[in-house]
Amino acid sequence: MYEVGKDELEAIEAVLSSKKYFRYQGKDVETVTSLCEKEWQAYQKAPYCLLTTSGTNALVVGMAAFGIGPGDEVIIPSYTFVATASAVMQVGAIPVIANIDDSMTIDPKEVISKINERTKAVVAVHMDGLICDLEGLAKICCDHNLLLVEDAAQACGGTYKGVPVGSYGAFGGLSFNVDKIISCGEGGLLVIAHENFEKQYKKAFVTHDTACQYGLTKREDLDEVSGFFGLSTRLNEINSSILRAQLKKLPDILIKLRERKLLLINEFKKNQIPMRLGHDSDGDIGTNIHVKCSDPLHTLELTKKLIQNGYRAMAPQLRPAHACWQWMNSMNKDQYYVDGLNPYSLTDKSYSYEKAHFIRTVQILGETLRIEINYDGGDDQYREWMQNLVALIQE
Ligand SMILES: Cc1ncc(COP(=O)(O)O)c(C=O)c1O
Repeated sequence: MYEVGKDELEAIEAVLSSKKYFRYQGKDVETVTSLCEKEWQAYQKAPYCLLTTSGTNALVVGMAAFGIGPGDEVIIPSYTFVATASAVMQVGAIPVIANIDDSMTIDPKEVISKINERTKAVVAVHMDGLICDLEGLAKICCDHNLLLVEDAAQACGGTYKGVPVGSYGAFGGLSFNVDKIISCGEGGLLVIAHENFEKQYKKAFVTHDTACQYGLTKREDLDEVSGFFGLSTRLNEINSSILRAQLKKLPDILIKLRERKLLLINEFKKNQIPMRLGHDSDGDIGTNIHVKCSDPLHTLELTKKLIQNGYRAMAPQLRPAHACWQWMNSMNKDQYYVDGLNPYSLTDKSYSYEKAHFIRTVQILGETLRIEINYDGGDDQYREWMQNLVALIQE
């Protein structure tokens, strides 16, 4: 979260003093939450947007609404936050992990090699604001009759060929937790960008709020999909009010971050510093730059040096819950609180995840250093930050 202040405080105060915190206030009554969803519909150019309490829950709700469940396999990338895998397992399906490529995002060729008769969906994760090859992935999904899902938790505001991320696939999930470009503390958004998925949107609504199918406010609208027990993951009016204020700020934040990243890319190019870029540099949200290092030791030494000099640098291989080998050990028949709910017990196929299969990911992450683009300070300060960074990398 980059910008927070008076607007958010006033928004919170208005809700607090109204004493109306619940997203429903009567049939057809516009609330802060329903208004916020309409603003997201406009931003995402999507007919259906549903706020949830987290990005993880947005993905879970989307998966349930689109019929992903026990027996299904969902292909996800080897470099993603654990929530991508856990969302798949929450609906009873099995995550199948595909290596990333030089773009740090899922490798379409690997995806093809993982497809079989159980595959139901592919999740494109726009990691660190880097945009996936959505066209390549969409073609594969179309050829094999699979759902393309976007986990855009780390790329809110990003675009692919002009289309907002989250709105390209069958559905997408965004996160507004405190680490994200805009935040309301905790929150998520399910985006469904195609008119013909109205029924899935209604199912998502019921899944995100089981009780709403019985209440007067929503009963009539949801009648045709009623009869499913889901979650209680409604966003409240206080969080929604913060998010409305944050969404207004998003375009300016993006302009600044993108300008700054472009300056840095040009500076790196001038100095022949290799980088890893996603599949749409204009659509990248500009939060991070990824330096390509010669080997893992070089990455670690450079990370240490940059941190000592006040840079927010991180070797992705060391992020605690992002490289697949940090979370895939929990994906098996034994590791579940309730045996009968374990997706690995709900299928007749056995699965194992060997680190050896992910050597390419080990190599790519090992040779990558992620640096957060400096947002604070004026242009002169940024130029100094940038030039010092180049000097430190070249030392
Ligand atoms: C790639 C990715 N997917 C999903 C999530 C889950 O979002 P939340 O923390 O809002 O549940 C995150 C959160 O950081 C994420 O980075």
